Amino acid sequence: MALNYDLVILGGGTGGYVTAIRAAQLGLTTAIVEKQKLGGTCLHKGCIPTKALLKSAAVYQQVKNAADFGVEAPSPTFNIEQAMARKKAVINSLHQGVEHLVRTNKIDVYEGFGRILGPSIFSPIAGSISVEYEEEKENDILVSKNVIIATGSSPSNLPNMEIDHTHIVTSDDLVEMTELPKSIIIVGGGVIGMEWASFLHDVGVEVTILEAQDQILSPFDHDIVKQLKRILTKKGITILEQAKIDSASVEKGSEIQVTYQKQHEIHNISAEKLLIAVGRHANTNKIGIENTDIQFDQKGFIQVNEHFQTKESHIYAIGDVNGGQQLAHVATYEGKKAVEHIAGLGSSQLSQQEIPSCIYGNPEIAMIGFTEEEVKQKGYDYRLEKVSLQAIGKAHVNGQTEGFTKIIIDKQTNDILGIHMIGAHVTELIGQASTAKYFDSSALELSEVIYPHPSLSEIIGEAALAVEGRKIHG
Ligand code: NAI
Repeated sequence: MALNYDLVILGGGTGGYVTAIRAAQLGLTTAIVEKQKLGGTCLHKGCIPTKALLKSAAVYQQVKNAADFGVEAPSPTFNIEQAMARKKAVINSLHQGVEHLVRTNKIDVYEGFGRILGPSIFSPIAGSISVEYEEEKENDILVSKNVIIATGSSPSNLPNMEIDHTHIVTSDDLVEMTELPKSIIIVGGGVIGMEWASFLHDVGVEVTILEAQDQILSPFDHDIVKQLKRILTKKGITILEQAKIDSASVEKGSEIQVTYQKQHEIHNISAEKLLIAVGRHANTNKIGIENTDIQFDQKGFIQVNEHFQTKESHIYAIGDVNGGQQLAHVATYEGKKAVEHIAGLGSSQLSQQEIPSCIYGNPEIAMIGFTEEEVKQKGYDYRLEKVSLQAIGKAHVNGQTEGFTKIIIDKQTNDILGIHMIGAHVTELIGQASTAKYFDSSALELSEVIYPHPSLSEIIGEAALAVEGRKIHG
């Protein structure tokens, strides 16, 4: 028997379930099809577990340095099993919350694999969903006026490199590890590579990063990356740039041998594990795209228009699967806008300059808007200033004065073009920069805001004052 809905969402990750709640608020009868657990990558394998582990590492580092604060804690040790247990408890608690939210919003959840059907006896147009179950149970057929594909992404591999999940691993494997390796080589100095490098180093693992491009974190502001590299190198992380992995082999029971090329020279290194963190690809396999007119871009992501509609106008694609920025907050934004478009509410366009981006390592990095390299390339007449955390009283109170905030403004309009931050807690502070960008604040307005003293937020005010030529501290 076919079941009818206004909207069926394929994938109950952060993008999918938030979209479903917005749809329910708008009065649409809504179902989610999810093959694993509500919450998806962000809750179970990505954002939340990695940040929980990074928090454990931060606590370990703080306790190691507790004597500076007058707290005697001799010889602390790091217990990975307990850190993993805490991570699991954090996930479970949030997972229960998500299930509750979905239930109370009267959203139907089908715990199976959803496949899009072409025109069939159920509907003359493509887009009915067949839900297939692992157990012996007949498929459900969901006939829906609209479909949103929110199936997310998975770690990509390199050609000729077999992920064996023991020696050669992805972030999905590390998030479930039961013991720490002594050493690790991380291929890819992107966001995932750098967060894992930070966690693993801070809990005692020897870390080497291989990055193929000229620098790690290439989309980030180069000043920020320079400072990050200085801090990480001082801590003892080895960062090899312009270093392209050739091959990896493991002899039974021994370390993994890695060959890489740097400036046309071949080098060999070895470690206990090799993490492949070279990007993520869209999860579109077997979901029935071939039964529709939906098209892919060159990188295999689903093509969408400004309302997140695919070539089948009643089928939308949001989040990692559509090739935009692979961030949970982008997925939820896109989902809400897609649903509002379905409900005929119109849809504002997502401005890339309003999307904050964060790296939750030690130190943290956060940014919004254009980098200095981008404003130069775009030909802006710009002015910039940097304010060190040394200028901020609360940073001294916290004993975390390493880092700075850089603000870039348009000289002609006084508009904020970019804010880039490195240091402790900047992933919290960037929210204020997001608000400023959303309201199109000028540097003058940002400098007139009253920031509580002492607080780290003062660095935003100081940066705005500095770029206005009225610097007080720093
Ligand atoms: P990425 O695209 O950010 O970085 C991959 C890196 O691997 C690039 O720097 C690339 O040059 C390098 N690379 C590729 N092939 C290589 C090779 N053969 N040898 C050496 N280096 C090579 O991808 P990543 O880090 O896997 O992250 C995937 C997505 O997940 C990103 O869009 C990221 O923003 C998102 N994410 C965001 C987080 C956050 O917001 N904090 C946390 C984790 C992931």
